[in-house]
Amino acid sequence: MSYDIIGDIAVIKKPMKLREEEYIKEIRNRYKFIKTILLQETDVLPPYRVPKYRVLYGEDKTETISIEYGLKFKVDVVRTYYSPRLSNERYRIAKEVKEEEVLVMFSGVNVYPIYISKFSNAKKIYSIEWNPFAVKYGLENLRLNKINNVITFLGDVRDIYLYIGNLEDRDAIINNNIDYINDIIYSNIEVNNIYYYEENELIKNIKYNKIKKIDFINKSIKLFDRIIMPLPKESHNFLEYAIPLIKSNGIIHLYQFFREEEIENNSYNLLDEYSKKLNFEYEILKILKVGDIAPGIYRVCIDFKVIK
Ligand SMILES: C[S@@+](CC[C@H](N)C(=O)[O-])C[C@H]1O[C@@H](n2cnc3c(N)ncnc32)[C@H](O)[C@@H]1O
Repeated sequence: MSYDIIGDIAVIKKPMKLREEEYIKEIRNRYKFIKTILLQETDVLPPYRVPKYRVLYGEDKTETISIEYGLKFKVDVVRTYYSPRLSNERYRIAKEVKEEEVLVMFSGVNVYPIYISKFSNAKKIYSIEWNPFAVKYGLENLRLNKINNVITFLGDVRDIYLYIGNLEDRDAIINNNIDYINDIIYSNIEVNNIYYYEENELIKNIKYNKIKKIDFINKSIKLFDRIIMPLPKESHNFLEYAIPLIKSNGIIHLYQFFREEEIENNSYNLLDEYSKKLNFEYEILKILKVGDIAPGIYRVCIDFKVIK
């Protein structure tokens, strides 16, 4: 049976293998604490990587707290991406981090940054996420876990990457302010228990003008020791923003979806292509399968060193 238990909410994934009543019975019998059962109605949708859901059973709620490795993550399963299945991978990455400055692109509700803060000696962690709901929960999660070395940026990686590369202004940007995030959250619409929001409207409402524009010509860019890129379908398209921000010998963790038999080849081909395009050399440290998403298709993490 394919479902996730996230706090006291059960989320049934597509495709459904059983009838709705059978799921309800099975979940209620096995997990007495479940208050709500949601049924996934669509695949994950861009831009925020969340599907649409319908309430199948119980309380009409979508917010819960998930606990992994003793860490608390408050999430809204309908409005923010969150997968409890990736906890071991997050822990693995956190244990690799030394006394470093780390950038987490596509940070969702700040799961990677919080793992890294708790389980490593990282100096500072910067996160970028463009879903205002995720950033709102991400900031709350920093407080819930008493984290004080994570700076969260709301916006598109492509717009923000150079701002945070700037030495003087990196910490000055006001994005750790919850009131500011609340200001820009566009009201979501709920129709017949199917939750959705107007994606384009939401993006339009992000006020980039709150972030001071910086003239980068002749400015020194501060570089990172490590960059995490957890956006499997598209992360390679963002290498052009990561490479300028990584130190020579810095490490990138790049997530992809690959068929089992193509994992090795695709990983090398991808890095061959982008290293030529973006003018860097690389050394692959590890290629790991970190979960399957469909029969024979895996979420893969390529850990590689960038030599500039
Ligand atoms: C697959 S989720 C991963 C979230 C989180 N790192 C985790 O593991 O739970 C990808 C996230 O990237 C965000 N995202 C996608 N494109 C983005 C962009 N161009 N700039 C900033 N965030 C983006 C989505 O909103 C989503 O929250």
